[in-house]
Amino acid sequence: MSFTVQFDQVTKAFGPVQVLHGVSFDLPAGRVYGLLGENGAGKSTLMKILAGYERPSGGHLLLDGREVRFTGPRDAEAAGIAMIHQEFALADDLTVMQNVFLGHELKKGRLWLDDEAMRAETAAVLEEVGLRADPDTLVGRLIVAEKQLVEIAKALQRQARLLVMDEPTATLTPGETERLFALMARLKARGVTILYISHKLDEVERVTDELIVMRDGRFVTRSATRDLSRQQMASLMIGRELSDLYPPRDARPEGRQPLLQVQGLNVPGWAQDIGFEVAPGEILGFAGLVGAGRTELFEGLLGLRPATVAHLALGGEPVRIRSPREAADLGFTYLSEDRKGKGLHVDFPLRQNLTLMALAPYCRPWLSPPAEQQALQQAVHDFGIRTRSTAIKASALSGGNQQKLALARVLHPNPKVVVLDEPTRGVDVGAKRDIYELIQRLAREGRAVIVISSELMELIGCCHRIVVMRGGRQQATLDVDAQLNEEVLIRHATGTH
Ligand SMILES: Nc1ncnc2c1ncn2[C@@H]1O[C@H](COP(=O)(O)OP(=O)(O)OP(=O)(O)O)[C@@H](O)[C@H]1O
Ligand SMILES: [Mg+2]
Repeated sequence: MSFTVQFDQVTKAFGPVQVLHGVSFDLPAGRVYGLLGENGAGKSTLMKILAGYERPSGGHLLLDGREVRFTGPRDAEAAGIAMIHQEFALADDLTVMQNVFLGHELKKGRLWLDDEAMRAETAAVLEEVGLRADPDTLVGRLIVAEKQLVEIAKALQRQARLLVMDEPTATLTPGETERLFALMARLKARGVTILYISHKLDEVERVTDELIVMRDGRFVTRSATRDLSRQQMASLMIGRELSDLYPPRDARPEGRQPLLQVQGLNVPGWAQDIGFEVAPGEILGFAGLVGAGRTELFEGLLGLRPATVAHLALGGEPVRIRSPREAADLGFTYLSEDRKGKGLHVDFPLRQNLTLMALAPYCRPWLSPPAEQQALQQAVHDFGIRTRSTAIKASALSGGNQQKLALARVLHPNPKVVVLDEPTRGVDVGAKRDIYELIQRLAREGRAVIVISSELMELIGCCHRIVVMRGGRQQATLDVDAQLNEEVLIRHATGTH
């Protein structure tokens, strides 16, 4: 049961906001398609229509030439279509087996669940996707990469013939990414069609057969992947030539007293004996594999988790940070890598999201909505947040635009030390450049900037020095110069040098 999918003049509006404007293209079965487009181009929305999570406002969806109308994801599943979401959709408090069979439980007779049969089938699909886990494990105990494999196992158990993967590698280590790619190759060999959405063009180049490009809610073009360079992909996406991805940076400030000094920082279970300094105007990177302890290190430093520090000074003065509140009062700000869990209140409007952390300027003496609204307009402009209306909840922004809002929010209180954890995750190439530009500007304004990133090229492209972490330890602190390349960083990060 393989089929050709056809979008025919598909439109979608959310209230007055027109998001898709008559999208038409078809997808013959059994290939891997890359779906490219800027943040907010409509990729996730179109795929949610395909997988039954959203209904189109107009147009048709056809499978093998026959129109289908899905009223929910179950209808799509029944037709063989499954989607692995940008933000996961599993139930953490159920077991792996319960998640795999959720809504499709096998029964003995009319009333009793057939746990034995479900356990055996779950074990079989877990084997197929290469996940060594007990079917009775709670999903909440799994790491992200494992949850993703459970999502795929769930789709396979339901006989999916088409799999939509929305930025599946955003939170995976290089090793996990390789395993996922190997699994995708096996699925393709079995005739499964895969739709792959990603802003990582090197991956798109590697795993896809054909590319579909969308811009502003419209289909723009399609092409065999091998016929396009990454530069061409980027230009097609953003509709203009992209100049250098990394803007020029000022030289590393020399001879200045460090703005931030950290010695002997321990975060129990995560990081041991870490020490570094950052001068005003300096950009310090933190490299390492997912799980190397970089995030936990800064959560410890900023009072978000237990930690001890032998010496901590700001502008030469010893300081203590016992809570995030104290960190904020001292002039620290922190962009969390976990946008949905710790960054934004996605069910709140944009306005509140921007000002929640820094209400003081809007209280005179009471909260002033017009002032808040003005600050929001300014942020939408400064950070290039693409939205047709500002009167929406944060959850209605596309993934990359949520990231820009999160950035606007942490920079709002005019901080001295800026810690950015994975600042460009899920962000398109055009917007990435804007964020790199912003990082340079923050440094130029005399702040100390710390960037944690899993994208090594990004650190090399925008930092002055890079600390490499492995297993909670500081492996090396390297100057960014002409000799430094990705390979050197990987060797330190994996301990193979
Ligand atoms: N429920 C909603 N209400 C209002 N607007 C919405 C809603 N859901 C999505 N949108 C808007 O639709 C547009 C397309 O969003 P979509 O999530 O499809 O983009 P995307 O191409 O997946 O972007 P990204 O690369 O950032 O993930 C965005 O402008 C977004 O704000
Ligand atoms: Mg998306």
